[in-house]
Amino acid sequence: MIERVTKAVIPAAGLGTRFLPITKAVPKPMLSVLDKPTIQYIAEELVSVGIKDIVIVVSPGSEVIGKHFGPAEELEERLLSDGKKKLYDIERQTQRFNVKFVVQKVANGLAGAILCAEKYVKKEPFALLLGDELMYTPKGKEPCMKRLMDVYLKTGKSVLATMEVFGDDISKYGNLGIGKDIEGAMEVTEIKEKPSVNEALSNYALVGRYVLTGEVMGMLKKLPTRRHEIELTDALDELAKKGKLLAAPFEDVRYDVGDKFGYIRANVEFALRSKEIGRQTKEYIKELAQKL
Ligand code: G1P
Repeated sequence: MIERVTKAVIPAAGLGTRFLPITKAVPKPMLSVLDKPTIQYIAEELVSVGIKDIVIVVSPGSEVIGKHFGPAEELEERLLSDGKKKLYDIERQTQRFNVKFVVQKVANGLAGAILCAEKYVKKEPFALLLGDELMYTPKGKEPCMKRLMDVYLKTGKSVLATMEVFGDDISKYGNLGIGKDIEGAMEVTEIKEKPSVNEALSNYALVGRYVLTGEVMGMLKKLPTRRHEIELTDALDELAKKGKLLAAPFEDVRYDVGDKFGYIRANVEFALRSKEIGRQTKEYIKELAQKL
């Protein structure tokens, strides 16, 4: 029987040195795209698959993230008494998840971060969402996590999201060897972490969304440490070679918000989509473009 997935892990423990000085006092997951912290966008991707229990792996000193997802009675009372129901609803939405935090004390790679969540996830299957990536799906289209979950529920195998990338960009990602089609997804035969263009197995890059079976946590514990890190890709490659890994294409928009340009791009595009300031932003960008 295929076990239900009820928990998600969001590794978000990077120190965000690329974003200094803001990240000196503000944890990177709290950097906002428009008016919402990136970590909340990521948590909201779980709504489509009905997961409420989230374990966020953070750096020391990230308590404010707990405050963001926690209760705020005074603020709520104030918003209600001022008749600001819409803002009250927005505030309540931050509290719809059961969030647990674990601190990653040593920066020992992505697998190290996931292992920090083991006491909550135990041997259960789990969703994994990397904290530096936002996946935007237009209304009416199937969100990335939903697609992965459907494939997992049909096959019982671990599933990851993939996007096609071209040219030198392939060396920035985990790269997939692709086999036959199964249940609308593709079999993964091998994974190479950040290969050179010549060594690439295909154009398929692995991006930061996964549904992983319970056995993965056990596999992570046995991985070798390389350059002080243990890498999830090593375990995924092992799964692939046993025929236990699938990839589902994600064809919408991915923002790498751990990167300055990716972060600005996310802000501009979310502003353009905003009901409140979309039109104004569009006019401004057109005007600005003429001067560039
Ligand atoms: C990590 C993973 C890589 C993946 C990428 C994007 O790399 O190791 O396999 O393709 O995220 O999800 P990073 O960007 O952290 O160096």
